Amino acid sequence: SLNKIPQEKGLDNSLALMTEGYRFIPNRLQYFNTTIFETRLMGGQKVICMSGEEAAKVFYDTELFERKGAAPKRIKESLFGEGGVQGMDGEAHRHRKQLFMSLMTPERLKAFTDLTNEQWELAVDKWEDMDEVVLFNEVEKIMFQVACHWAGVPIWAKELSQRTNDMSKMIDAFGAVGPRHWRGRVARNRTEKWIEYIITRVRTGRMSANEDKALYAMAWHEDLNGNLLDTKTAAVELINILRPIVAIGRYITFGALALHDYPETQVKLQEDKDNYSKMFVQEVRRYYPFGPFTGARVRKEFTWNNYLFEKNTLVLLDIYGTNHSSELWGDPEQFRPERFYDWEGSPFDFIPQGGGEYEMGHRCAGEWVTVEGMKTSLEFLTNHLDYHVPEQDLDFSMVRMPSIPKSRFIIKNVKRK
Ligand code: HEM
Repeated sequence: SLNKIPQEKGLDNSLALMTEGYRFIPNRLQYFNTTIFETRLMGGQKVICMSGEEAAKVFYDTELFERKGAAPKRIKESLFGEGGVQGMDGEAHRHRKQLFMSLMTPERLKAFTDLTNEQWELAVDKWEDMDEVVLFNEVEKIMFQVACHWAGVPIWAKELSQRTNDMSKMIDAFGAVGPRHWRGRVARNRTEKWIEYIITRVRTGRMSANEDKALYAMAWHEDLNGNLLDTKTAAVELINILRPIVAIGRYITFGALALHDYPETQVKLQEDKDNYSKMFVQEVRRYYPFGPFTGARVRKEFTWNNYLFEKNTLVLLDIYGTNHSSELWGDPEQFRPERFYDWEGSPFDFIPQGGGEYEMGHRCAGEWVTVEGMKTSLEFLTNHLDYHVPEQDLDFSMVRMPSIPKSRFIIKNVKRK
């Protein structure tokens, strides 16, 4: 016989999601003492929320779940765009995902690391003359320039601030209603126009593109029927490379906060014994809040642990809660990079950028790029720079999604070591 999924009361609990943020799912799991519950969100739609390694295993089974119709309209208007890889399924998804994964070769990752070091060097030349540096804002600019060079997209100095700001606003909009959402939409529209123009220039031979880079790949990608992507979709996918590279800036800022809050990690990062830098970066991605959850729809009816999943039901997998589960992580609320020393590397227990497989599933295409960008940046910060962290409000909200330290991490007296 079937088990009943614990059900939260209320016709629409969207307000609770806005007021509880990253802890919306974990709070209810604790209340019901389960790893699964049902609620109503986004205009009263029935939604199943689930958490943990076993939940992730079933969530990433592409026989059982699909992405068509999973992302809310407001997310497509700001964060994702329309027609991108995130909402695709089956063969068409695998083919499109291959386009992304083909950019992630060891050579291209090495190029990414070199570009990151180069942009830090250039940025620090300016920082040494600045009264104070708002690290988050400056690191987003660094990462946007890395993104453009890496992808082969031309960027002029005079547009750097505006374009970086647009990338930042698209990311900043994902958990927002009101003005923050609208800024995200404006930013997306402007960015799509710009990138569509560049794709058109490549296709008409007025701009040359390097075959190894994302601009070329997106401009000339053929779908399963041998057709080029329409200009808008090609732009959406190129932005799916540029925008999330800028998002690495949030993790780098959280990494700087960790170095400040847990100063014993500074020396360990400098010494880098047993690949400490990798463990440090993993712990930053586990510990600090970024993606709260991800969603998919039931493709065909099935039961799991005697719970019935009806076709088309929206299911949210709890990213933040899984990374903070006391079943999976000892003392999950402690920042302790060493925990990764004996982590066995399950694709389903550590899911800051999604779980499962890269090629077949929807796991983040940019996870290796993210790890490289963070390692290179945080090593640069500890090995090459001296700086002072003045009094400021370094709290980060667990309600605002995406979160960031309130002061955006201000540093002073930046000097090279
Ligand atoms: C998908 C997080 C960086 C490209 C995802 C997903 C998450 C995520 C949660 C969805 C997983 C799912 O729904 O199952 C992050 C975070 C990043 C980051 C927190 C750090 C800042 C990147 C980078 C790139 C990238 C640097 C590209 C260079 C993508 C793409 C997808 C994706 C293309 C869609 C994959 C698919 O649907 O098959 N990411 N990501 N991300 N990410 Fe990332």
